Amino acid sequence: MPDSEKKSDSRFGLDVGTSRIVLARQTEKGIDCRAHLNAFVRIPFSRMTESVFKKENIPCSVDGDEIVIYGNDAEKFANIFHVETRRPMSRGLLNPDEPAGPAVIREIVGILAGRAAKPGQRLCASLPGRPLDAIEDLKYHQTVVEQTASDFGFTVTTINEGLAVIYSELADSNYTGIGVSCGGGMCNVCLGYLSVPVISFSIAQAGDFVDTQAAAAAGEVATRVRLFKEQDFRFNGTPGNKIEYALTVYYDEMIRGLVEAMTRAFSESTALPKLDRPVPLVLSGGTTLAKGFLGRFEKALKQSPFPVPLSEVKLAAEPLNATARGALVSALSE
Ligand SMILES: Nc1ncnc2c1ncn2[C@@H]1O[C@H](COP(=O)(O)OP(=O)(O)OP(=O)(O)O)[C@@H](O)[C@H]1O
Ligand SMILES: [Mg+2]
Repeated sequence: MPDSEKKSDSRFGLDVGTSRIVLARQTEKGIDCRAHLNAFVRIPFSRMTESVFKKENIPCSVDGDEIVIYGNDAEKFANIFHVETRRPMSRGLLNPDEPAGPAVIREIVGILAGRAAKPGQRLCASLPGRPLDAIEDLKYHQTVVEQTASDFGFTVTTINEGLAVIYSELADSNYTGIGVSCGGGMCNVCLGYLSVPVISFSIAQAGDFVDTQAAAAAGEVATRVRLFKEQDFRFNGTPGNKIEYALTVYYDEMIRGLVEAMTRAFSESTALPKLDRPVPLVLSGGTTLAKGFLGRFEKALKQSPFPVPLSEVKLAAEPLNATARGALVSALSE
């Protein structure tokens, strides 16, 4: 059924990502997605500032002698006051070195979702997959995400991020294929067969890795490199532009690492199903938005002994929203 023919529904899909938190819901006009940067900034408290912020509806709270500004406005204020935004998450998970993290996520989920309109309102939240090469434990992150949503009155379910991409983008192949989400902190991969997750994992190299490595190589600060990447970057663009060159180098390195990890995980898994036909692979997440990403990814695939026959490799319709949309599809199917 096209989105336009669907009725609005009170269930939510939630994607708590390293860079952004996205909430998806079904309205009469289709799926509506809203997002905030998963970030905050602290500025000195004054009563005057607090009351002006309230009047301007800037999401903030007072903490001792500081005002904490949340979400999209944090970046605006960081630019004005020449400070760096802080982020609750790092490499796809809550950052244990940022004690304010859970409270910031709570504030942003509150801005986007608010309290459940009725008892038992369903919300499905995405969770990253098990890291392929690390021993990081996901339990703390998972508990904070689930607890936050249930404190707002929701009945919470969860879905693996790669599987959410499959739910969002691969309805035509009956939810069989490979879903990949290249975000800020992580790449998440899931091979699904008829909607069942068969192999899923994450690697902690994505957009933030590209930013910090390219910044170090070009002698720049990561924020400036990120803004250039999001606004002007294209692979092998302007000759002599050292930021663009460094971004190309580290984007290629990230893509190579991702393809290598997929090749290894699928080749070594005893769970790899015997597929009777080639399956689609869909790429999503903000990191795939760079102009030329799909071509670079396909080139890396051709150079690797990838063990799964592919019918096509494509970009998600809305790479920044695919995970939240897939989480919503899961909530709607409950
Ligand atoms: N137009 C763009 N071109 C290139 N990169 C972009 C663009 N827009 C956003 N990004 C990058 O995408 C990344 C964020 O993507 P996304 O919102 O999918 O991540 P996330 O879900 O918050 O993180 P994760 O899933 O890793 O926890 C950041 O590294 C950001 O710089
Ligand atoms: Mg993500």
